[in-house]
Amino acid sequence: MDIAFFELENWQKQEIKQKLKNHRLAFFDSPLKEEHISKIKDTQVLGIFIYSKITADIIDRLPKLRLIATMSTGFDHIDIEYCKRKNIAVCNVPTYGENTVAEHTFALILALSRKLYPSVKRTRENHLFETDISLRGFDLKGRTIGLIGCGNIGKHVARMAAGFEMDILVYDIYKDEKLARKIGFRYAEFDDLLTESDVISLHVPYNSKTHHLINEETIGRMKKGAHIINTSRGAVIDTKALVRGLESGKIAGVGIDVLEGEGEIKEEMAVLKDEFKSSSDLQTVLANHVLMKMDNVLITPHNAFNSAEALQRILNTTIENIFSFSSGKKENLVWQH
Ligand code: NAI
Repeated sequence: MDIAFFELENWQKQEIKQKLKNHRLAFFDSPLKEEHISKIKDTQVLGIFIYSKITADIIDRLPKLRLIATMSTGFDHIDIEYCKRKNIAVCNVPTYGENTVAEHTFALILALSRKLYPSVKRTRENHLFETDISLRGFDLKGRTIGLIGCGNIGKHVARMAAGFEMDILVYDIYKDEKLARKIGFRYAEFDDLLTESDVISLHVPYNSKTHHLINEETIGRMKKGAHIINTSRGAVIDTKALVRGLESGKIAGVGIDVLEGEGEIKEEMAVLKDEFKSSSDLQTVLANHVLMKMDNVLITPHNAFNSAEALQRILNTTIENIFSFSSGKKENLVWQH
């Protein structure tokens, strides 16, 4: 098969060359863009990461495309409905990062609760070994954490929260009472989770139902002084509402690994391009910049998955996905025909 991979590091390319040596391989360092299309006209399989946006237009211009293998759990960067119409299979890596992303989630929670960033900044940049009220944090033990979404990642966060002796509330459209008893969490209505949690952590996929799940109104129902953690997808939160929540003091701290419109933040030249159409996108970019400058906001650059072990798991599964597709089996397909 003709397979085109995007956004890979050298060690990944070497491993792919060895393991998929019977296929015709092409590698591109950047995300899939307009200028690549003419070079991959015969491609049957795309191996991509989340910054390659696979639109209906791109699909139409790759007439031989049969499989899109995304090297991520989330697949909201791919027009799945259009893939269905065109009979193009899409597979993902469903479980590479469950503990990895959960560990990052707790890194953000602890960094906020123990004022880690300003503490380190004081010693490293100001060379001051002094403490005061501005570095005062809060204990996690006895606090309530509300998990919105308790699938692969949320479950691990719940286990870790139990280790910190937190009270754990979970809101999920799917309930597993056995798991709740085993880990020691309680299912709650969405509203109750909002009003009772000290820390709210998001672990839902991004889709039309979770778009701006955290917004002006839901922030309004949260406890004063709540902390919000987001390692899921940026647009689960309405960024402008979040900025207002922080400015008013309703939200005491935020730890996020994902930003609404993060593609544009990574590459601000994109603001000048056609695909960057509406002025509300521009407002989101500005809101993101405001967030980045706020003292009580910690932002990591979509790095929660980025551990050596997780990357190896991603690569192994992607290679297996392509293998099994080429041998007629169906593995990790986001949808099947
Ligand atoms: P998962 O599919 O195992 O779990 C998602 C959970 O959310 C499920 O239990 C599901 O029932 C629940 N859910 C779905 N829609 C809901 C709704 N409207 N309201 C309440 N609950 C809902 O997914 P997993 O592996 O836990 O990952 C969650 C998300 O984390 C992914 O979709 C992805 O966007 C993000 N992610 C971020 C990474 C990063 O590096 N920051 C890395 C990996 C995933």
